[in-house]
Amino acid sequence: MSDQIRIVEMGPRDGLQNEKTPVSVEARIAFVEALVAAGLTTVEVGAFVSPKAIPQMASSDQVLRGVSHVKGAEFHVLVPNEKGYDAARAAGAEVVSVFAAASEGFSRANINCSVAESIERFKPVVARAKADGVRVRGYVSCVLGCPFDGEIRPKAVADLAKTLWDLGCYEISLGDTIGVGTPLKAKGMLRAVGAEIPTANLAMHFHDTYGQALANLYAGMEEGVRAIDSAAGGLGGCPYAPGATGNVATEDVVYMLEGIGIRTGIDMEKLLTATNDVAGLLGRPPVGRVASALNARKKRSRGE
Ligand code: HMG
Ligand code: MG
Repeated sequence: MSDQIRIVEMGPRDGLQNEKTPVSVEARIAFVEALVAAGLTTVEVGAFVSPKAIPQMASSDQVLRGVSHVKGAEFHVLVPNEKGYDAARAAGAEVVSVFAAASEGFSRANINCSVAESIERFKPVVARAKADGVRVRGYVSCVLGCPFDGEIRPKAVADLAKTLWDLGCYEISLGDTIGVGTPLKAKGMLRAVGAEIPTANLAMHFHDTYGQALANLYAGMEEGVRAIDSAAGGLGGCPYAPGATGNVATEDVVYMLEGIGIRTGIDMEKLLTATNDVAGLLGRPPVGRVASALNARKKRSRGE
């Protein structure tokens, strides 16, 4: 198994996009700063999507500009089309992510177009990004199941991942958007995709709805995948993925990796502070198991 894993932190984007409590631009910037201070070197900080669709991601331009002074980290933002790309570039984006779905049902619900139409929308984005020296990451959602279309064939995932790769995405992040996958299924899907594009250019983006995300990640690491998307505190979800809960918690991923001898460079204490601070703003404790356990231990040690 590889001894190097890259973590792509999703908290400020996927983490907050589905929250009911609005989080101010200042607090979003402080969250990003705290995550970078904890050692996270790649953070998705916002989305240049319709504010009517995802009000929580409004003012992502201010967030991106607000974190531009933070050194030592790479900031990603979602862009669904050229309008989003224009706005992201105007705010200084150097890495953008386009997002497609392996199922027609989710594509329609999420971005209001078919899968094929979404690829047509991404083509000019990727071409302009290439000309501008901007790197593009590609997401494939619903890789292990769709809330509308049910079962998803690994071949459908592999074909779409290959399309995004051929367009020029440097990495393809495979999303178990509704967290229904189990380890052997995850392995089968990753093998199918790995037959089309290098495993070194894949990332796993697993939501933890059914508590399988860590097991699925471990299975994917056995297949050679080296990048993991996770969100501080287990935040996350998508308004267009009914029933889905958060991303796998970054603390849980870090705890597992360190426990099996993979150094992450992440300071758990600082990460916990970042997580607890944002959880405080949202008015509830983090859902991640490690954050819950560490917070309970702190309480015990204070005699509470
Ligand atoms: P549409 O309605 O098809 O687009 O939406 P349109 O071109 O017809 O425009 C409609 C309105 O949206 C217009 O405004 C446009 O100006 C505006 P109006 O005239 O009504 O005032 N608009 C935009 N505004 C800001 N930024 C833009 C933009 N584009 C158009 N870029 C669209 C298409 C994609 C914009 C819309 O459906 C949308 O924003 N959807 C939100 C998608 C989203 O953010 N979903 C959550 C993230 S994906 C996810 O969570 C999965 C992931 O985590 C991986 C996984 O877990 O699997 C990545
Ligand atoms: Mg997601």
